[in-house]
Amino acid sequence: MTGQLIVFEGIDGCGKTTQLRRLEQWLSQPTWPLELLPPPSRIWVTKEPGATQLGTALRQLLLTPNEFEAMDPTAELLLYAADRAQHVARQLRPELEAGGWVLCDRYEDSTWAYQGLGRGLDLTLIDQLNGIATGGLQADLTLWLDLDLEQTRQRLCDRGAVDRMEQADAAFHQRVRQGFRELAERHGDRTLRIDADGDEDTVAERIQQAVSTWARRSKMHSA
Ligand code: TMP
Repeated sequence: MTGQLIVFEGIDGCGKTTQLRRLEQWLSQPTWPLELLPPPSRIWVTKEPGATQLGTALRQLLLTPNEFEAMDPTAELLLYAADRAQHVARQLRPELEAGGWVLCDRYEDSTWAYQGLGRGLDLTLIDQLNGIATGGLQADLTLWLDLDLEQTRQRLCDRGAVDRMEQADAAFHQRVRQGFRELAERHGDRTLRIDADGDEDTVAERIQQAVSTWARRSKMHSA
């Protein structure tokens, strides 16, 4: 695999989608900013759930509120896994094999945090299912954007309509945040915590610094 998989994670409203776009812009500037690593053949932005055709339909099922029938947590877990299996097989792997750098809005850590810590499903089972869905394809770098719950809730309120996952109560989202914290400790080799408190430019600069540090580290390891 010659490409690099960079994943953005965090609770809803932490600003990761905006920051992912900012990193894409920074990496796409005329002068490649990471002098220690060669520039990729292309930079490609994607997300979970919902990047493939199948995933678009699954995203609709997963995020549309349904007041008539509550989704069973295990059914929810399997739908996210199905989205990931399709995404990895049809898009991520081919893109990385072709040498692309992929910026992905959420990946397997979200399942661990949301369905594991959030919904309380068996974490060993989630590890196994993630392994099946990804075929062992792991992120090279995970940027965890950490912001306290009050601020993320305020942002979601300002944004208006909330989806089925965002409707979950504050205790659920606290557990999810705790899940990301535990993951950052467990996968400290590939995860960097980004303080997501601050204006857009400030957070974008923190991310650029983090990616530059990671690039230096990758270069040292490959030397
Ligand atoms: P987003 O695209 O706005 O981040 O919304 C996706 C939602 O799906 C978000 O609430 C997190 C949730 N999610 C899970 O619960 N498990 C997963 O495995 C993934 C990828 C997302």
